[in-house]
Amino acid sequence: MPIKAFLFDLDGVIVDTAIYHYQAWKRLANELGFDISEEFNEQLKGVSRMDSLDLILAHGGLSLPEEKKNELAAQKNQWYLELVSRMNSDDILPGVATFFSQVRKAGLKTALGSVSKNAALILDRIGMSNAFDAIIDGTKISKGKPDPEVFTKGAAELEVSPAECVVFEDAVAGVEAGKRGGMFVVGLGSPSVLTQADLVAPSLNALTVEEVLKKSE
Ligand code: BG6
Ligand code: MG
Repeated sequence: MPIKAFLFDLDGVIVDTAIYHYQAWKRLANELGFDISEEFNEQLKGVSRMDSLDLILAHGGLSLPEEKKNELAAQKNQWYLELVSRMNSDDILPGVATFFSQVRKAGLKTALGSVSKNAALILDRIGMSNAFDAIIDGTKISKGKPDPEVFTKGAAELEVSPAECVVFEDAVAGVEAGKRGGMFVVGLGSPSVLTQADLVAPSLNALTVEEVLKKSE
């Protein structure tokens, strides 16, 4: 089936907010009396805010009441928003602009597939609010990655079938979501981490649309 649409994760694919999520969670863990490593952080990528907090608390051996957890998640989000408030279009990852112009020329549809509740704000900050035909974010889904909902909803909104979609993801949970959704998945990062991806490249900068379409045939 020919590919008709490309579905993009946001954090770590379009813009390097992954580092800010990590810094804010690390600060929270440190205040709670333990640390999280970059290796541990791989598990958090693509995972919703509350699911991330649960993983962090389990890592630190803590079990807290719901009210306290909501407070901690809000604190992390406040620190995260402070870090992203300084972002602008210079923070768009290398290769994104060129890749998107190739996507348009090829006549492909595009959707954002992010579990972040801050996605609209980030897109606005980097001037990409109008870059997608559909935007599915954390405010529109009930199940976070690795559940495929964020991508299957994107495909539905674009009126294409999953087999006609390619997903671009930097996270283990996101790659799994795309595969469970029945899509061809391009992992952006390390092949030793993104083992379930159909194709892995270091970033969009290392890929052309033509190459992706050929590999997904
Ligand atoms: C994902 C990030 O895009 O969004 C995760 O990869 C983050 O690290 C998740 O936890 C939820 O984001 P937010 O902005 O709603 O806290
Ligand atoms: Mg990501």
